[in-house]
Amino acid sequence: MDGKKLAGEKAAAYVENGMVVGLGTGSTVYWTIMKLGERVREGLRIQGVPTSRRTEELALELGIPLLDLAEVDEIDLTIDGADESDGDLNLIKGGGGALLREKLVASVSRRFIVVADESKWVASLGKFPLPVEVVPFGWELTRRQLGKLGCDPVLRMAGNEIYVTDNGNYIIDCHFGVIKDAKSLSETLNKWPGVVENGLFVNMAERIVLGYTDGSVEERLPE
Ligand code: A5P
Repeated sequence: MDGKKLAGEKAAAYVENGMVVGLGTGSTVYWTIMKLGERVREGLRIQGVPTSRRTEELALELGIPLLDLAEVDEIDLTIDGADESDGDLNLIKGGGGALLREKLVASVSRRFIVVADESKWVASLGKFPLPVEVVPFGWELTRRQLGKLGCDPVLRMAGNEIYVTDNGNYIIDCHFGVIKDAKSLSETLNKWPGVVENGLFVNMAERIVLGYTDGSVEERLPE
């Protein structure tokens, strides 16, 4: 069975009438958004805050009323996917390129629930290359600085073109192998002027809903 679909649909049950809901990006939360669309057609009243243009388009197609982040001070609940989660529910995100908006939305959310299939659950973060969003100006210098942290930094491409985020920036995928201290790495990265944001989400997730190919779904809290 599709673990992503199982997890995504299950997490939609956390959404209640009247909520402002952060809508994540990716192929797992896609199923949450589809479910919410169904519930909105049946009368659920919510307002969504999308974390990417892709999610905005999907939500509009489904008739989910949307708010711009600028219009809210607080979001009741955000549901989003992840590329990796460790036992503390520290995450790597941004495989889909939406890390900056995802982090902005998650950071003003009272609750943040992660949806993923079993492949995302890891003993330690870092096998998945850490996406770092950087300003285009002088990006080669920023890449060299990232390399000094002990990773192999690779500029993200979309075919023959440089990949550009919804915010007009570039992404450098940093191959660390293992990340021992996510909090301090995240702080170090964000101190550099060329770095806009990085894909480490530390101490943000309340729970993870994990879907398994055997058809089961499990919820885990930080260890
Ligand atoms: C988008 O930028 C990412 O942070 C996604 O949330 C993450 O890549 C999970 O994607 P999938 O659910 O498609 O695996």
